[in-house]
Amino acid sequence: MSEVLKALVERRSVRTFKPEQIKDSELQTILQAGQFAPSARNQQSWHFTVVQKQEILSKINSLIQQHFLNSGVEAFVERAKAENFSPFYHAPTLIIVSGDETAVAPHQDGALALGNLFLAAHALNIGSVWIHSLRTLFDSAEGRALNKELGIPAGYVIIGSGAFGYNAGPTPQAAPRKEGTVTIIK
Ligand SMILES: Cc1cc2nc3c(=O)[nH]c(=O)nc-3n(C[C@H](O)[C@H](O)[C@H](O)COP(=O)(O)O)c2cc1C
Repeated sequence: MSEVLKALVERRSVRTFKPEQIKDSELQTILQAGQFAPSARNQQSWHFTVVQKQEILSKINSLIQQHFLNSGVEAFVERAKAENFSPFYHAPTLIIVSGDETAVAPHQDGALALGNLFLAAHALNIGSVWIHSLRTLFDSAEGRALNKELGIPAGYVIIGSGAFGYNAGPTPQAAPRKEGTVTIIK
C-alpha cells in the first residue's frame, strides 16, 4: 500500500500527550499540508492560529472549564469538575482553523485543511485530535474576546481546532467501520 493510503487508514485520534513541544520544522510541515488542502474556487479561505504559549493554553483551558460549568448540561458540568481538566488533553500545541465567512465554503475548506493537518502529523509520528469545545467556546462572549486576543482575522469564523503533540501512550485502535455507508450505482 502507498504511504498515503497507509496513513489514511492508520491515523487515529490521540488523547495522551507528552509535555515536550513538537519541533518547529515539524509544525511547518503540518501547516504546509493544511495550506495545500483543496478549497472551493481555490480561495484558500482558512487561517491557522498556532498556540504553544503555556500561559495562553492555560487561559483557554480555564475559559472552556468555566463555559462547561455554566452550560447547564450535566455531562459537561461533571467533566469540568475533574481535577486535571483539559479538553485538549494537555497537548503542547493547539491549532485553531478559522475561515473567511465571505468565502464560498469556509467550513468545508477548513475541515479539509484540518484533515490534512492530522494526516501530516501522523506521517511525522505526532499525535493529534480534533477538539470541538474550542469552537463552542468561541460562540460565547468570552470566546469572542479571546478571538481578538489570538489575532484571529476580523470576519473569520472558527471552523475547528486540533491538539498536537508526541503520543505518550499506546497507538489507539480503530473502531470497526459502520456497515451500509456506501451506495454504488453502476
Ligand atoms: C468534527 C469532529 C469533532 C471532534 N471533537 C472531538 C473532541 O472534542 N474531543 C475528542 O477527544 N475527539 C474529538 N473528535 C475525534 C473523534 O472522536 C474521532 O475522530 C473518532 O472517534 C474516530 O476516531 P479516530 O479519529 O481515531 O479514527 C472529533 C472529530 C471530529 C471529526
